[in-house]
Amino acid sequence: MTNKEYHMVNKCPIHINSHDDVIKALTDEQFYVRPVNQKVPKILEGSLAGNVFASLVRMRDDQLQTKIKLAIINSIDQYDVSLLSQQTFTVAKILTLNLKNTQQLNQFIADVPICVIAGLFQISERHWPELVNYVRSFIDDVILNPQEERVQQADLATKYLFHIIKKSEGGLLQNLRLGFKQQGIEDDFLVLSNCIGLFFQTADGTSGLLGQMLIHYSDLKSAPEDILTEVLSQNPPIKFTKRFPNKETKLTGHAITEEDTLLLDLKTEQGSVPFGLGEHQCPGSEWAKAISLAAFNYLRSLPLNSSLFTDYRWKELGNAAIPIFYDKE
Ligand code: HEM
Repeated sequence: MTNKEYHMVNKCPIHINSHDDVIKALTDEQFYVRPVNQKVPKILEGSLAGNVFASLVRMRDDQLQTKIKLAIINSIDQYDVSLLSQQTFTVAKILTLNLKNTQQLNQFIADVPICVIAGLFQISERHWPELVNYVRSFIDDVILNPQEERVQQADLATKYLFHIIKKSEGGLLQNLRLGFKQQGIEDDFLVLSNCIGLFFQTADGTSGLLGQMLIHYSDLKSAPEDILTEVLSQNPPIKFTKRFPNKETKLTGHAITEEDTLLLDLKTEQGSVPFGLGEHQCPGSEWAKAISLAAFNYLRSLPLNSSLFTDYRWKELGNAAIPIFYDKE
């Protein structure tokens, strides 16, 4: 290991919690989403999962990122809020068939965003339980915590997700293929990798948003839309993101070098950017809101005991905060 790599692995991240600095780091091209010399986590280099990682719009700092992003935005924009709400109602109806206790509630919160996206890919309902497990494995083994002894699992999850998305030939895949083509991108590996990306980008953020709205399940005085806005501004489900300077630079009070990792708070005392900002700003914010709102309203329409929603602890998962509800003794 070179000295530089040693520092990148071991140096303490710099915590940035001034709003102006957060905005600067998100919007200034001196800051990358990946370390300059490490486009892919070392452990995943050369693996299928690693190649997918490197293809994700979220993980790129190059010019292709802009084109991939446009392709995704153009495809996503074809699905309006009412379609997303309808899709969420359909999925919620299936997933809540036996919802009686907090364990099933937590499962619902975790699964609903993934299954809504699955529905848009026209992946049949019978594949959902398996799909949910593989999306989870992809998030854990490829994105959040890649480990040497789990590269096989990371590849297995990636292979499964490729297979099931490709087999679906569903509406969203076709729209994305068209969107990429319009940007001059014919590489189907890039399209399919970013299809997987949509699952992982949707999952924890939307579960966090829905879960936090459900803490207010019994607050019948506030409109669900206001609850959603309040959660996003006061308690964004994605707490922080990272940036890596591509040269020596400065933020208020900090001299920063290429070896530093910046931890940017998306909520500071001065403001909140729950969906990020700049080149990497979330393209799925309207979907996230539509899914969370529809799932919240659906649960509210069921004859559920409000005590299901009273006791919770926080599941800190990567950079997402998701409430886990539990039954009191
Ligand atoms: C409440 C739910 C969600 C939250 C809080 C959220 C938050 C974010 C944030 C903060 C980023 C920027 C990360 C950074 O700059 O480091 C981001 C990026 C992204 N999000 Fe979301 N997101 C949510 C749901 C979704 C959904 C539903 C989709 C797609 C259907 C989506 C797709 C993406 C993609 C593709 C990126 C990467 C964009 C890029 O790098 O250019 N997200 N999201």
